[in-house]
Amino acid sequence: MKKILITGGAGFVGTKLVLLLLEKGYYVKVLDNLIHNQIVFSEIKDARFEFIKGDITKEEDVKNALKDIDLIVHLAAIVGAPLCDKNPELAIKTNINGVEIINRLRVNIPIIFASTGSVYGKLNELCTEESPVNPLSLYGKTKYIGEQIIKKSGNYIIFRPATAFGVSPKMRTDLLINDLLLTALKTKKLIIFEGNAKRTFIHVSDFAMAIVYAIENFEKIKNKIYNLGNEKMNCLKKDIAKIIAKYTECEIEISRSGEDPDKRDYEVSYEKIRETGFNTCMSIEDGIRELIEYYYTLNKDLISNK
Ligand SMILES: NC(=O)c1ccc[n+]([C@@H]2O[C@H](COP(=O)([O-])OP(=O)(O)OC[C@H]3O[C@@H](n4cnc5c(N)ncnc54)[C@H](O)[C@@H]3O)[C@@H](O)[C@H]2O)c1
Repeated sequence: MKKILITGGAGFVGTKLVLLLLEKGYYVKVLDNLIHNQIVFSEIKDARFEFIKGDITKEEDVKNALKDIDLIVHLAAIVGAPLCDKNPELAIKTNINGVEIINRLRVNIPIIFASTGSVYGKLNELCTEESPVNPLSLYGKTKYIGEQIIKKSGNYIIFRPATAFGVSPKMRTDLLINDLLLTALKTKKLIIFEGNAKRTFIHVSDFAMAIVYAIENFEKIKNKIYNLGNEKMNCLKKDIAKIIAKYTECEIEISRSGEDPDKRDYEVSYEKIRETGFNTCMSIEDGIRELIEYYYTLNKDLISNK
């Protein structure tokens, strides 16, 4: 039985991945400092699961977490441009120094590293893994440096995932689709900036499934970088708003102010990962229907007639 360490396993992607791996029979250890004060895992009563509250920037915590581990999934990070800009020192310490510590201590342990599509910055072409990399935000820059650190030691898979959405045991309502839908349900109005920007998405279940796929096919697909998503989920921001309006009957207003710090406005090719045999399952509409149910369950006022 493989023993998997998930750093940042108490996050949006990590909590989904933990459940999936346990379901598949893996032994799962999570190292997470619970930076968002999240309460997770209270319902997991499985002898194959271990949670360590610890910090990837502390060598002792990482050494302790790495004991008896066959493979690392590195998700711990200060995630997203707004959060990194709010605390640049912490972003650098976590997304760069933390990666250095893990990479040095992992020796030969294989690692799957969640980078981000934000490493590309502004692009005027179809985005493939060969496209020039030019991260603009501190988030994109720190994640790109993280990639370089991991690559130096080999024995890795690097994913550059699309923007995730959907329901997870540790929710993130700041992610574009999750945020727009919640706003539409609450206010019946969506104010969209850069409506013609091309964005690309992945459901959180598919993100987690891709990591399981990478674990199970590590030798076959290792030492490469893959964009992670699906061309069917390349869409204009205003088209996302239209889908949301279809389900919520909200009004859409296009605003001239506001801009994406990562300047994401391009189509992404996911051919490279698909050619290896991986494909996503969830569509944007599937994810939106699931989210609506989740938000309603959480807040009955959203459906009250008051
Ligand atoms: N969610 C997305 O849209 C998306 C897209 C592309 C890439 N990614 C990457 O996927 C990974 C997971 O993203 P997420 O959406 O689950 O983010 P998240 O913020 O929900 O999860 C990150 C986790 O890391 C933990 N953490 C932060 N600093 C730590 C530290 N010093 N030591 C230990 N744990 C620490 C947090 O407590 C949190 O549980 C990140 O590396 C992110 O860059 C996410």
